[in-house]
Amino acid sequence: MISAGILLALISVVVAQSQPYGQCGGQGWTGATTCTSGWTCTYSNPYYSQCLPGTGGGSTGGGSQTTSPTSGPTSTVTSLNALAKSKGKLYFGSATDNPELTDAPYVSILTGGMFGQITPGNSMKWGPTEPSQGTYSYTQGDAVLSLATSHNMIVRGHNLCWYEQLPSWLSSSSSNATLVSILQAHIQSEVTHYKGQVYAWDVVNEPFDDSGVMRSWLYQNVVGTSYIADAFNAAHAADPNAKLYLNDYNLEYSGAKFNLALSTITTLVQQGVPIHGVGFEGHMIVGSVPSAASIAANMEKFTALGLEVAFTEIDIRMTLPATAALLAQQQTDYQTMVTACMMVAKCVGITVWDYTDKYSWVPSTFSGQGEACPWDANLVEKPAFNGIVAGLNSQG
Ligand code: XIL
Repeated sequence: MISAGILLALISVVVAQSQPYGQCGGQGWTGATTCTSGWTCTYSNPYYSQCLPGTGGGSTGGGSQTTSPTSGPTSTVTSLNALAKSKGKLYFGSATDNPELTDAPYVSILTGGMFGQITPGNSMKWGPTEPSQGTYSYTQGDAVLSLATSHNMIVRGHNLCWYEQLPSWLSSSSSNATLVSILQAHIQSEVTHYKGQVYAWDVVNEPFDDSGVMRSWLYQNVVGTSYIADAFNAAHAADPNAKLYLNDYNLEYSGAKFNLALSTITTLVQQGVPIHGVGFEGHMIVGSVPSAASIAANMEKFTALGLEVAFTEIDIRMTLPATAALLAQQQTDYQTMVTACMMVAKCVGITVWDYTDKYSWVPSTFSGQGEACPWDANLVEKPAFNGIVAGLNSQG
């Protein structure tokens, strides 16, 4: 028969160890700081340490950042931005937006030095900023801007002209001339409001269809492709110092869409339209990322025109549930993406489309998919984080 004392001792041994994926450290944490056998308490941030698979390192919740659950470099990097800058890039950043700015642990990582750039995910788009014609609303965009500037982070403005998230008053029955003047008025107002305060604007967003034709939407259909030059000219007139980007997805791949983007942008440059950069969004799928060399080659087609390029919205999604193998492949894929940018001198920076799965747009947009970001929903760094570090360290 086991005595009460021995039973108590046994229980305390059991409760002294956190369970797989359980919390094992962080400010205010008074529970166990070691993990059950085969799991390691891994520091993530001041608020959270977590039991992750593996026995390496063996640190506790109070320890330094240690192992990742899969192979890959052990990282002690606390600023992806500083590392990117040390390798000649302008910034490493993240998207964010208003709803999550009340989440203190989230904001702590966002503004704590890890990142040097912010893109507002939604609040500077046309619908939110001009809810009725000629009435502008910049409060939410201003909140993101002031958070960024008060932490020495630069801002990419996103976006001025896109087929989605348009104001409902913008009717498809408008005439060509009316639509052009409406576009010019919107851009003039917004770019003037943020004049001198944003590094770059995504002026025209996603104008190309995956099939290799211009995307069918209001401006393309009524005004024609000249709406793109109209938008860039209006933005340049309002803030001559902002870098003006055309931003699109799937430019990482060769094919019809890439060819149309290259020919259209070449024409804009030849016509003297004030375009300065091409944004490669970088919304990718785990296991389907092309080689770094081929992505870099696509980027260099644009830099050869005298433009800069950037990864503007990286996330790499998977079909759920996540497995160790998928997370390992995601680590490789993040490394590949970042390496591609490092291979191109005029790839100026990298932005992830929010750093954490907690606020990713993926699950609500792509059914059954998710876990696309380098931090998990508990704000814990995933293997992908080490992939980013390895990518940033890949050159020089
Ligand atoms: C997404 C936002 O993240 C979502 O919150 C919103 O519901 C839809 O738009 N390409 C872009 C971004 O250029 O603006 C999109 O952002 C993601 C795809």
